[in-house]
Amino acid sequence: MKNVVISGTGLFTPPEIITNAELVASFNAYAELQNAKHAAAIAAGEREAIAASSVEFIEKASGIRQRHVIAKAGVLDPHRMRPYFEPRGDDQLSLMAEIGARAARDAMAAAGKSAADIDGVLCAAANMQRAYPAMAVEIQQAIGAGGYGFDMNVACSSATFGIEQAVNAVRGGSAKCVLVVNPEITSAHLEWRDRDCHFIFGDVATATVVEAEDTATAADRWRVLGTRLVTQFSNNIRNNAGFLNRCEDTDPDARDKTFMQEGRKVFKEVVPMAAAHIESHLASLGLEPTKVRRYWLHQANLGMNQLVIRKLLGGEVSQDVAPVILDEYANTASAGSIIAFHLHHADLQPGQVGVICSFGAGYSIGSVVVQRL
Ligand code: COA
Repeated sequence: MKNVVISGTGLFTPPEIITNAELVASFNAYAELQNAKHAAAIAAGEREAIAASSVEFIEKASGIRQRHVIAKAGVLDPHRMRPYFEPRGDDQLSLMAEIGARAARDAMAAAGKSAADIDGVLCAAANMQRAYPAMAVEIQQAIGAGGYGFDMNVACSSATFGIEQAVNAVRGGSAKCVLVVNPEITSAHLEWRDRDCHFIFGDVATATVVEAEDTATAADRWRVLGTRLVTQFSNNIRNNAGFLNRCEDTDPDARDKTFMQEGRKVFKEVVPMAAAHIESHLASLGLEPTKVRRYWLHQANLGMNQLVIRKLLGGEVSQDVAPVILDEYANTASAGSIIAFHLHHADLQPGQVGVICSFGAGYSIGSVVVQRL
């Protein structure tokens, strides 16, 4: 069978940053405003006061210290609590396509590929800006590629699920070189007014070039030894925003129209699933977890990643074995494991093996085992 490689990755990091201190100050100002507004109902026991958030809790519970966002002003305005994006006309490049194209160009430069080399674009992300035309087709046009493009969504696992589709397309011969693009504007689906989750997400875009080994010219090439995907239905991470909403006459600003989760349950259920998934995927390739040089894991929670690695390796977790990027980026949905790979792969030696693994809503888990050439 034809060998397939990852020959380049790209990263677009929005320049604006929200620190935990800024985030907590704005959340607490929002809570005070709401509590003052509803003081009578709170005093009468008809409504609960909103408790304050804290930097200490966020850092201890998640490991997140800051997040990059496309537009911070609206998020930090206690009267708004969501980003403000200037509406764009249909003749302008969409925001999601814009950041996706930036990451895509970065990945193409790393792989030494021009637009003419790309014959497939997958836009794989946890949210799409619109129903159609597909974001992937707009990104395809923005970068000047031919071939085809389509969107796919498997929440936080979209990137690894996309990589498997790209690998299969190249292996099967329907494409020679496929770009998997992950523009994640998570600030638009995060409920910044919910203390339990307001600190979780950040914006970013990543991209990955997948091509046949015999056409790859980049110095930095990673043979895909295998991919494995699994899903198992769960309501513990859910977002009910969708095209049926307007026919249901429900409130578009209701709590269930943005990200919701049972964080504790997710933690408890997904960690063992992810560790077992990686272990059995490696076993199917004749590899043991201890033989893997690096794990580029989904970046949702530091404790979760530490537990996955402890289950796999039994020992202490170091930045060298499982690099953490969520302290700087927070949870960037599908892009997290690709950011970790992008920023922390250059020191591996030819022959060394690594695992890119995502996990999230669905539940969904995707793993890609790669070997440096
Ligand atoms: N500031 C201060 N205290 C807070 C707080 C905040 N922002 N949010 C919650 N708390 C409090 C709670 O009220 C609770 O108090 P209590 O013990 O008095 O009831 C306490 O902190 C613990 O809350 P809990 O929600 O159980 O925290 P946790 O330790 O489970 O951490 C998450 C929360 C979300 C960070 C964690 O569960 C997690 O990361 N889960 C996995 C999430 C995930 O990967 N999701 C995938 C998304 S793609």
